[in-house]
Amino acid sequence: MYDKSLEKSLIEKSRELLRLDVSGLSREEAETVVRDLRDIIRYHDWRYYVLASPVVSDYEYDKLFKLLKYLEERFPDLVTPDSPTQRVASEITKMFPQVKHLTPMLSLDNSYNENDLREFDRRVREITGLDAVEYAVEPKFDGAGISLLYENDLFVRGATRGDGEVGEDITNNLKTIKTIPLSASFSKYGIKRVEIRGEVLVRKDVFKELNEERLKEGLTIFANPRNMASGSIRLQDPKEVASRNLEAFVYQITYAEDEEGVNVLRSKLVKHSQHIQMLDQLKFKTPFQVIRVCQGIEEVIQYCDYWQEIRDDYPYEIDGMVIKVNDTRLYEKLRFTSHYPRWAIAYKFKARQGTTKIKEVVFQVGRTGAITPVAKLEPVEIGGVIVSSVSLMNEDFIREKDIRIRDTVLVERAGDVIPYVVMVVKEARDGDEKPIQFPQTCPSCGYPIKRPIGESIYRCFNINCPSQVIERIIHFTSKDGMDIRGLSEATIKKFYNLGLIKSIPDLYRLNYSIIKQIKGFGEKSVQNLKTSIEESKTRPIYKLIYSLGIRYVGETTAKTLSSVVKCVEDLKEFTKEELTQLQDIGEKVAEEIYNFFHNYKNLEIIYQLKSLGVNTCREEIREGKLKGQVFVFTGTMKNLTRERAKEMVENLGGIVSDSVSKKVNYLVVGKEPGSKLQKAKKIPTIKIISEDEFIEMVR
Ligand code: IVH
Repeated sequence: MYDKSLEKSLIEKSRELLRLDVSGLSREEAETVVRDLRDIIRYHDWRYYVLASPVVSDYEYDKLFKLLKYLEERFPDLVTPDSPTQRVASEITKMFPQVKHLTPMLSLDNSYNENDLREFDRRVREITGLDAVEYAVEPKFDGAGISLLYENDLFVRGATRGDGEVGEDITNNLKTIKTIPLSASFSKYGIKRVEIRGEVLVRKDVFKELNEERLKEGLTIFANPRNMASGSIRLQDPKEVASRNLEAFVYQITYAEDEEGVNVLRSKLVKHSQHIQMLDQLKFKTPFQVIRVCQGIEEVIQYCDYWQEIRDDYPYEIDGMVIKVNDTRLYEKLRFTSHYPRWAIAYKFKARQGTTKIKEVVFQVGRTGAITPVAKLEPVEIGGVIVSSVSLMNEDFIREKDIRIRDTVLVERAGDVIPYVVMVVKEARDGDEKPIQFPQTCPSCGYPIKRPIGESIYRCFNINCPSQVIERIIHFTSKDGMDIRGLSEATIKKFYNLGLIKSIPDLYRLNYSIIKQIKGFGEKSVQNLKTSIEESKTRPIYKLIYSLGIRYVGETTAKTLSSVVKCVEDLKEFTKEELTQLQDIGEKVAEEIYNFFHNYKNLEIIYQLKSLGVNTCREEIREGKLKGQVFVFTGTMKNLTRERAKEMVENLGGIVSDSVSKKVNYLVVGKEPGSKLQKAKKIPTIKIISEDEFIEMVR
């Protein structure tokens, strides 16, 4: 699928460019460098976003990007509309202009069972006069439909579906989506102008993360990835759009003409599956990996059944499959009804819904004081998962849907995402239902609660509220944060209630001799806890920034922030304006970051962590210190995970190998080493070192 030697030369080229002193480049010299940088960055974008297998570190990528930006700023006439830097649009659009689609954006007829599909096939055979039809079968992506227009290899316009005839021009927003190429060599296929249909999606795990984040922040959460995708592409601030981690799949070419305005698809590339392959080669994200060409409807049915089984394992939410006649020349014969094409049909999966009764409603206090109503349900199985509670989001949601205690509700679970209440089954009411009363005070600390203007949720503003403190500690130790294993939510609550931890820095002051006396804590579990707490001190600083739980600061923003400072505490030097200059940071987020770093209590936490040995400064990457040196690890290490050790070696230009050979320079030996040690002893050029020696070496 990709060319290894091209990749190698691109990587070498990028290293070369990064070493280059660009300060004295002439315009001509800069032009070549800029062109190379763009090719390299596009390549890395494709590996990262489309293939999900990057070949450079974020650090190197950022350096390349910054270099390109720097050169474009110095020589503004070198900026082209398809430069990767043009993805970060910054203007706020108040209204989206309307645009007419080249061909109408129709929807698909639905089918729900095998017989519907057989009936579809019968009609296709009848109209075409064929005995057996070849179909292409691909997932039906559940996102927001888009239409993309490329002219002379450039992405010139992107639009929403609108009413099908006329959509909204959201080009600037779509430009922030990295899986949409800003340019693509359609000319290689003799195509001058092409209209492509696709779908903007949010990956299920991203959806979950973003929603959990929003829930904690007191923002309304999206019911499903589709709502999040369609809400996001119509945001007015492209920076906000960029922060949503959207992706776009393309799945249909609706129009393509050559220089003379002749439709090329009918003469050269006639099959839909070939169109998908072409788009894949042009580096779009497509269903190419999963599209199946089937001979006859029975094979189609089999493939649909197979997908019904595996849909939960697919990273994107899909609500069915789309079956398309593969030979696009038959489209003309089959034509359209007023609403759908007759050459395609959707096969819809069964919805994952269930009805159950609300037993009671409790109010949970989150990290930032947001108070969320949660309905406790009579447990119900939905799509193989037992659901026993569901968030009711906020007061407006409850009022809008008129949800009451003891109501029967229809609950939907989309993939592995948070379940939500679709509607109340009003017919099931028997008069026993009770309205949901919002508390006047915080259920955790008793402080009066308030609903700030413009927000949909009540908050407790007591910074010392026990629930908030506990939630902040839980967030700090979470996997995406400082990743302190062996410290479950229940343990944190227990430690808090015992007075062992009252704040985040207390995690690094734990009195282990007391913990040993707590029921359920053996020698071994205490040792493990100690090790993981120690280990967390060396996390990269973006993890620490994320862990601090600043409102709206997720992993991406934390990475951005970590790239502009040496030490976390340096963020206090930034003004709001400077913060908004950073990638993906809008005014609202900047405000929160600024306030956080101008609150002495927060700075105090950072300084305490620092004095307790937590790494608050970026490790200087001394590239080349271990350049070309090959490391092998054997046995268990006390202070480092394998992944962390590998990261350290690679950051310094070294290589980690799995097996011992003459090429190896160092064998790092942990506890209970395996056979690698025996093997290495036989090779005199291999230096055998301990974990401590290794740490000394990379520090
Ligand atoms: S083909 C002329 N292929 O589903 C019809 N549509 O319910 C062209 N959709 O409007 C559409 N995945 O927004 C097609 N693989 C796929 C799709 C797909 C999702 C959406 C699309 C369409 C809607 C119909």
